[in-house]
Amino acid sequence: MSGTDQNKPATAQLSVVVPTFKERGNVAELVRRLDAALAGIAWEAIFVDDNSPDGTAAAVKEIAAQDPRVRCLRRVGRRGLAGACIEGILSSAAPYVAVIDADLQHDEKVLPAMLARLTGGQADLVAATRYVAGGSAASFSEGRGAISRLATKMTHRMVGTPLSDPMSGFFMMRRDRFDEIAPRLSPAGFKILLDIAATAGPSLRIAEQAYSFGERHAGESKFNIQIGVEFLGLLLAKMTGDFLDPRFIFFAIVGSIGLVVHLAVLFGGLMVHENFRAAQIIATFAAMTSNFLLNNELTYRDRRLKGWSMLRGFVLFCLVCSVGVMANVDLASWLYVERSTWWLAGAVGAVMSVLWNYAMSTLFVWRAR
Ligand code: GDD
Ligand code: MN
Repeated sequence: MSGTDQNKPATAQLSVVVPTFKERGNVAELVRRLDAALAGIAWEAIFVDDNSPDGTAAAVKEIAAQDPRVRCLRRVGRRGLAGACIEGILSSAAPYVAVIDADLQHDEKVLPAMLARLTGGQADLVAATRYVAGGSAASFSEGRGAISRLATKMTHRMVGTPLSDPMSGFFMMRRDRFDEIAPRLSPAGFKILLDIAATAGPSLRIAEQAYSFGERHAGESKFNIQIGVEFLGLLLAKMTGDFLDPRFIFFAIVGSIGLVVHLAVLFGGLMVHENFRAAQIIATFAAMTSNFLLNNELTYRDRRLKGWSMLRGFVLFCLVCSVGVMANVDLASWLYVERSTWWLAGAVGAVMSVLWNYAMSTLFVWRAR
């Protein structure tokens, strides 16, 4: 045998993709555990790090310098769990790919059983689940457990899926099936598994593998309210058959909250002093302020304005909304004269002003960078 053949490393049968953000204290332990769990399997680990400030990428590369099965894909200027998983899987040439969290909450010991079901041809994807017999999510805090169960229930109601744990970020699948659907996946948010299952549809044969969700090893969870809200938007969008954009749904929800704020302030103002005009002006201003702040925090969080640009954005937003209100009043009055159905005229006017405000806000106030 020639020297080059001897030096040729075995090609991986399984790529384990590990999304990381600030997981420096976990990577070495995860590689150790993968090594133990995957004995006898040709595996590789692909860490996808979003330029963590704690030096996670450097920690992975230190390991990679010693262990050719480990590599690190460092992404700069981007954030997002789902996107990181997608890019990691796309960088694999192995026939099977798995995704596992870096914090050791996912039990790596079930990986060989998952692989056996794929190689045996019984399934195209094996989802690790906490919510069947043999699995558990006991390590969840009460709050997180409740959110997870609620999201699971809502998902089952709103989008038909065979997954008992659609929120799971732990799964393994055939790479050829992933490559087919990759262009249609969304890189935003945490819900990569659900997106894969929903996008692929019933032709993707799914099996499940029970496991116990463990405690986080080092570091902190990156889950936050925004991720939960984003997920809610996604479900709502799916309910409308993807007719409505999640961003628009949030804009409309924020607008409805603004209406409540408006009426509450108007009511309060009239209690204090019976000057309708003054109370109405204050209420309008309060509603616009609340709408601006909520939209900045939720609807356009990815383009969030800060400091001076926030002030500039607020002035612009008020201008946009004022034009929206005038157009709404004019349109509604004209319709009322033409048709004389007060509620229809009012509703059409309101819908038109929401559409106007949304379009102008997206174009001018929270411009895409
Ligand atoms: N590259 C990258 N970019 N990785 C990220 C990002 C990001 O923006 N956000 C989180 N991660 C990585 C973390 O470093 C970790 O390895 C993994 O994704 C999961 O993040 P955690 O912060 O540990 O999330 P969790 O434990 O709260 O959430 C778990 O449960 C969720 C719901 O039950 C995860 O398993 C999620 O996938 C799951 O949806
Ligand atoms: Mn975690």
